[in-house]
Amino acid sequence: MARRAPTLGLSGLFAVLLAACDGPPDRTPTLSDADVQRGRQLVTDKGCVACHSFPDVKWPRGGLGPSLEHFGRQGLIGGRLPNQPGVLMRFVRNAPDHLPGTAMPAIPMTDQEARDVAAYLLQLEPR
Ligand code: HEC
Repeated sequence: MARRAPTLGLSGLFAVLLAACDGPPDRTPTLSDADVQRGRQLVTDKGCVACHSFPDVKWPRGGLGPSLEHFGRQGLIGGRLPNQPGVLMRFVRNAPDHLPGTAMPAIPMTDQEARDVAAYLLQLEPR
């Protein structure tokens, strides 16, 4: 009997800790089915390269927007949003909704395309 009490107490504590760690809602299930190579192709096809430079795209190297060559290292998107997969997926398709006043336009994409682009951007962190 006396041995059971700590066990119950611990699971209760875990429940509390889990609830406390459940940060801002990022409801994207996962990037595990994303395709980085397709994301790499999409930044060309969708015109991102007109405004941004990427480490593995020689031309064009747009300079209107910030360089994304080390984007995976950044903690924030546009200096304001947490750089998390779900936030990034929403941002790349509709920047004006998330950074009001930004010069980056909304760019129509499917869920899968946004996921591939986000996965590509997040691995841009050469050491
Ligand atoms: C017309 C130019 C333009 C196009 C096209 C464009 N962007 Fe941007 N992008 C910007 C600008 C300007 C910013 C800076 C946002 C701000 O701080 O207001 C930005 C910011 C970003 C950021 C955040 C960078 C940082 O340092 O925090 C990411 C990531 C990004 N863009 C990805 C993309 C992707 C992916 C595409 C294509 C789907 C794209 N952009 C297309 C202009 C553009």
